[in-house]
Amino acid sequence: MNANHTAQIAETIETGMTESDREGAIAVLAEALSNQHVLYLKTRNFHWNLKGARFNSLHGFFEEQYGKLEIAIDATAERIRMLGGVAPGSMAEFLGGATLTESPGAIISGEEAVAALLKDHNAIIRDLRKQIPRCETDFNDVGTADFLTAQLQAHEEVAWMLRSLLE
Ligand SMILES: [Fe+2]
Repeated sequence: MNANHTAQIAETIETGMTESDREGAIAVLAEALSNQHVLYLKTRNFHWNLKGARFNSLHGFFEEQYGKLEIAIDATAERIRMLGGVAPGSMAEFLGGATLTESPGAIISGEEAVAALLKDHNAIIRDLRKQIPRCETDFNDVGTADFLTAQLQAHEEVAWMLRSLLE
């Protein structure tokens, strides 16, 4: 994990996790939330700026993907609140907390857009694969481990679809 997140605890909860357990799990979730925002905006950027023969199908496919990311974003932020933490809420916090990097607005071909999104989904999958066992063993948080496992599986499905779109 390269990103920097200071977990903010707002509330006391009595669910069997210590404050330091919760700080650890919240930091993992905050990084996931930051990466989801970067990937959401990148997917939307490509939905707008795509050009080429595959415009119609990829424009719609990207719309479907950023719609799913929007739902995932909400679930991740709300899980931080369930753990008694404060969800990061500004673009500056998301950029500072993400391990992914942004793509500025620019005309892009379908092949380039698909490859760039695949790279990011793969990076998230690799990162979650490291973070999920830490949630369980280091932070005593099977709930977050399960929650992020479902997200990892969703990213695996998108990665497969993107890979299949590459020529
Ligand atoms: Fe649109």
